[in-house]
Amino acid sequence: MAKTTQIKKDIEKSNGAVKITTKSTQWNYSPSLESTDHIQLAKRYDLFINNQFVKPNSNKYFDTINPATEEKIAEIAEADEKDVDKAVQSAKTAYEKYWKKLHPRERGKYIYRIARMIQERSRELAVIETIDGGKPIRESRDIDIPLAANHFFYYAGWADKLQFAFLNRTPEPIGVAGQIIPWNFPLLMAAWKIAPALACGNTVVLKPAETTPLTALKLAEIIRDCDLPPGVVNIITGAGKTGAALVKHPNVNKIAFTGSTEVGKIIQKAIAGTNKKLTLELGGKSANIIFDDAPINEAVEGIINGIFFNQGHVCCAGSRLFIQESVYDEVIRKLKHRMKSLIVGNPLDKNTDIGAINSKQQLEKIHYYLDLGVKEGASIYQTDCALPSKGYFCAPTLFLETSQSHRIVQEEIFGPVLTIQTFRTVEEVIEKANNTPYGLAAGVWTDKGSKIFNMTSKMRSGVVWANTYNKFDATSPFGGYKESGFGREGGLHGLLPYVKF
Ligand code: NAI
Ligand code: MG
Repeated sequence: MAKTTQIKKDIEKSNGAVKITTKSTQWNYSPSLESTDHIQLAKRYDLFINNQFVKPNSNKYFDTINPATEEKIAEIAEADEKDVDKAVQSAKTAYEKYWKKLHPRERGKYIYRIARMIQERSRELAVIETIDGGKPIRESRDIDIPLAANHFFYYAGWADKLQFAFLNRTPEPIGVAGQIIPWNFPLLMAAWKIAPALACGNTVVLKPAETTPLTALKLAEIIRDCDLPPGVVNIITGAGKTGAALVKHPNVNKIAFTGSTEVGKIIQKAIAGTNKKLTLELGGKSANIIFDDAPINEAVEGIINGIFFNQGHVCCAGSRLFIQESVYDEVIRKLKHRMKSLIVGNPLDKNTDIGAINSKQQLEKIHYYLDLGVKEGASIYQTDCALPSKGYFCAPTLFLETSQSHRIVQEEIFGPVLTIQTFRTVEEVIEKANNTPYGLAAGVWTDKGSKIFNMTSKMRSGVVWANTYNKFDATSPFGGYKESGFGREGGLHGLLPYVKF
């Protein structure tokens, strides 16, 4: 396949390393750019239906851009209702003809094959993830792609052992799963959704986010190369309208959605009264809580990882920091010092800590909240790190002196913005941390095991990390309370949404 000239331009630009600097306010690093000459990208991508790339009915295409350079990478097909119907019919036929009849052991082999192919092509997938979405190469290389492979490996193992997952019950597949994913972890979200669905004997129509469709389309190539029976996995691209058509298609038996709470509510309304199964993984405003007996240096690292990891584009980002009063000054001093060493810049540079914000629209949303925070009376702290002149970038930001009633404390910003509050007692921090419409994750930093157990039982959030933050594993379930959604993905629990009894 021909490499796009666009990608070459990107490389030339980044080799120049003039515009996209790698500079923190404390250190200067020479650029250490991940090479892009090994990746293969077409200029145009069609819809992946029945193991073939087919043109969209409308013949319409949209651009996917590199948010670090604002340049177009490729054109992507826009699926309309007819295309959605074609993909769902293909998934339904594949379900009835092959997939549900196939011996589970054979299903497992296909899923293993996908996992192995992701591993084999991990370098290419990591670079494409970074170019299309803006996340630092260190993250896509060390977190997104290995974890995506990990999920396929893990669920491949379950395929022929489902009777042990559901003792004394006989799990049956549901049928066609419609899966809609966001732009913050594109390939990883595809893996979270496709792997358990296939392991349980379902077939899939997946719609990636419109700003980050490329790794899903690469996964489509992998699926084709794995010789999966045609129609078992279909990948269709488009924006909200395409997603809505998938949600309302009568032959879809299950919807799995990750994205904004707003769209989650629309989906829930759209399928009310049907017998479609639903899992929603939505927004968050997670609390990261530092007690005075915490290992402070490690906690500061955890705070940084909790909110600045992936530019804060993480549904479970530790975006509300609570510091016990007696260690407030020390934590803030160390946090500001550590922030000064963060490098914002070219996502392809291995030195980069904070890459590009995923889209112009998302950057505007973050700027809206930065202005709002100041208007609400919080005091803002940003490092004076150099931001690239092109592309969508945002400096890491703290909001000090915030209170529970501030909108910046209550609403999901989805950017590298941390609000800070203090507390005196355990009861006070539990009350404050739980006082949010969301309930996805929390972090607790303390030396005392008993305090950790007390907190984990009282926090209304799906995940509670103790003395760490943002750690994921295929064996561990993930999901929310309240407006963060329902249903679990990952681990044994992640099988449940894909079976009936
Ligand atoms: P979004 O919820 O609109 O998009 C997520 C996915 O849903 C995309 O694939 C999109 O095409 C699809 N979609 C949009 N409207 C739909 C509809 N009516 N029916 C079916 N599918 C539909 O999220 P967006 O607009 O990209 O981001 C807005 C905010 O949402 C962010 O600022 C952030 O606060 C939050 N968000 C949360 C995520 C999470 O992981 N929980 C991920 C992405 C965004
Ligand atoms: Mg893009």
